[in-house]
Amino acid sequence: MYYFVEPMTEDDIPEVQQIESQSFTTPWSATTYKREIRNRASCRYLVARCSPTPLPPDQGAAPQSRNLGLLSQIVAALFPPARRSTHSCPIIGYGGLWLTGEDAHVTTIATDPQYRGFGVGELLLNGLIDAAYEIHAQMLTLEVRVSNTVAQRLYVKYGFQPGGTRPRYYTDNGEDALIMWTESIRTPEYRSRLSELRRHLHIRLQTQAVRRRSSIRVL
Ligand SMILES: CC(C)(COP(=O)(O)OP(=O)(O)OC[C@H]1O[C@@H](n2cnc3c(N)ncnc32)[C@H](O)[C@@H]1OP(=O)(O)O)[C@@H](O)C(=O)NCCC(=O)NCCS
Repeated sequence: MYYFVEPMTEDDIPEVQQIESQSFTTPWSATTYKREIRNRASCRYLVARCSPTPLPPDQGAAPQSRNLGLLSQIVAALFPPARRSTHSCPIIGYGGLWLTGEDAHVTTIATDPQYRGFGVGELLLNGLIDAAYEIHAQMLTLEVRVSNTVAQRLYVKYGFQPGGTRPRYYTDNGEDALIMWTESIRTPEYRSRLSELRRHLHIRLQTQAVRRRSSIRVL
């Protein structure tokens, strides 16, 4: 499978909500999503899609993918030219952020349970980091359940560190939130670390895609 990321549109909301209902106990309403997507001044929302065949970043119906900065380098390498619309490619994950002052707050990120463990969450987080960079954020922050060690590992991989807790933050079970912060995402050190992580992610996604294509050919 080939995975790619592009900006979320209002048409995407029903598919996003399906994944959300399998991922979170207190899902957002469609109205909330619409409001977030329309607030271009301070919000960015992305979807990850999958395709059984290569999809170009600069053809088809996904011109916005080109605006995802460094991420497009990964995407461009993965999707050699072909003509295809992204509308037939199912949504397998999504994520979003708010710009608050100089910081970007990751509001949500989730991968379809059937596609977890294949690098989709990492691809989405990369898209969010690029979006934060492009809207001039200095640092990223987020809240995560103290019990959610899977998500915490993803965040730590991308330089988030614990910076405190919000007691009983989650209303469904009264669980505490761990607050995590990156260092500045604009320093040469962070950019260099990010490049290295992206190089590994690129290799991982490419290897998975090639394996999948050869197994289809064998079958
Ligand atoms: C958190 C989530 C988005 C990760 O998505 P994913 O597509 O499965 O993640 P990836 O395959 O890209 O994995 C990226 C990293 O996440 C961590 N990770 C993913 N699955 C893991 C697992 N089962 N156990 C431990 N760490 C795991 C690892 O650090 C991994 O990097 P690695 O492969 O180098 O070890 C996904 O588990 C999810 O949707 N969870 C439910 C929603 C949620 O909790 N969102 C976070 C809210 S704060």
